[in-house]
Amino acid sequence: MTDAVLVTGAFGLVGSSTVKRLAADGRRVVATDLDIPANRKAAEKLPPGVEVQYADLTDPAAVDALIAGIAPAAIIHLAAIIPPFIYTRRGLAEKVNVGATASLLTAAEKQPSPPRFVQASSIAVYGARNPHTHPDVLTAETPLHPADVYGAHKAAAEKLVRASALDWVILRLGGVLTVDPAAYMKLDNLYFEGLLPTDGRLQTVDVRDVARAFAAAITADAVGETLLVGGDDTHRLIQGDVAPAMAAAMGLVGGLPTGLKGDPKSDGDWFNTDWMDTARAQEVLHHQHHSWPEMLIETANKAGARRHLLRIAAPVTKAIFTRRAAYYGRTEPYADPWGAIAKKWADPRPDEGTP
Ligand SMILES: NC(=O)c1ccc[n+]([C@@H]2O[C@H](COP(=O)([O-])OP(=O)(O)OC[C@H]3O[C@@H](n4cnc5c(N)ncnc54)[C@H](O)[C@@H]3O)[C@@H](O)[C@H]2O)c1
Repeated sequence: MTDAVLVTGAFGLVGSSTVKRLAADGRRVVATDLDIPANRKAAEKLPPGVEVQYADLTDPAAVDALIAGIAPAAIIHLAAIIPPFIYTRRGLAEKVNVGATASLLTAAEKQPSPPRFVQASSIAVYGARNPHTHPDVLTAETPLHPADVYGAHKAAAEKLVRASALDWVILRLGGVLTVDPAAYMKLDNLYFEGLLPTDGRLQTVDVRDVARAFAAAITADAVGETLLVGGDDTHRLIQGDVAPAMAAAMGLVGGLPTGLKGDPKSDGDWFNTDWMDTARAQEVLHHQHHSWPEMLIETANKAGARRHLLRIAAPVTKAIFTRRAAYYGRTEPYADPWGAIAKKWADPRPDEGTP
């Protein structure tokens, strides 16, 4: 075994931050992701010393070669296909989210000194959360009821990890955010956020704190534990406040339309987010360093002079986004998140027989 840490999905949102964190901690890092032009370009900006090995993790032979070649001390498995894109690519997503996890576990188990395996999971495993009937916060023991294909994939991957012979830690993440404003300028993501019930509960977390959690999990005294990784209590937010607050920090004050509330009487018509009990994760991983108000201030500072331009543009963007919003012209009083996802992308429900 070497002292290397292998990070999959290394050029994604969480991966790039995790690679940076590990490199700053002085760890030997091997970053792996798909060999595509965007990743080649991102690789040029990696911290010195970080190695890159490209691999498509849906190819079990490539996974075997990757693990045998590196013999890592730990694997941080982040590669995945996530919402909203997962809904249109469920076949491929199953191969990445579940199949690749199986291949990595099998390859790792074959090592003479098997690595620790840190799995990225999601609170999507709990399924739809109506805050009117679930006043409690999520814990590691809350029963799993995935409501969509993403939650089902994450639950299936967790099951594989638990059944493996490796030392493992599972991190279930809340809503990961970054202070880099460019990340929010994607129309699909804005549309997606706009269709979620505005009064649904969401615990956000700064991506740099998620990176700290993963970096800590490779050595933390937490083998065999499932940990809920969210930000501190200032991150216990209401869905409809998050995007407008981030947008306002960038200067787009009042620049987004208001969506619809969730139906208090329908447990199914809510999205799969909620507040989380993060005490145990914080106790062992010490990851909570960036509060929500600090994130907003940093976002505003990063936006710099663009804030003034966006402020002027706010009434126009509001008019455009209002006409393009999922519920534009609808007369029903409540949000229908799964119906709206089906209409825009594809049926999000899990496959028959998945957990
Ligand atoms: N972003 C969130 O809010 C959030 C919340 C909960 C859980 N998670 C989990 O955290 C992890 C990281 O999420 P993220 O936001 O960084 O996602 P991301 O989409 O930014 O990154 C995923 C990475 O996986 C890579 N990948 C996809 N298919 C691959 C394949 N066949 N072979 C190799 N690499 C492949 C992609 O190229 C991408 O770089 C995921 O497992 C996700 O399910 C994320």
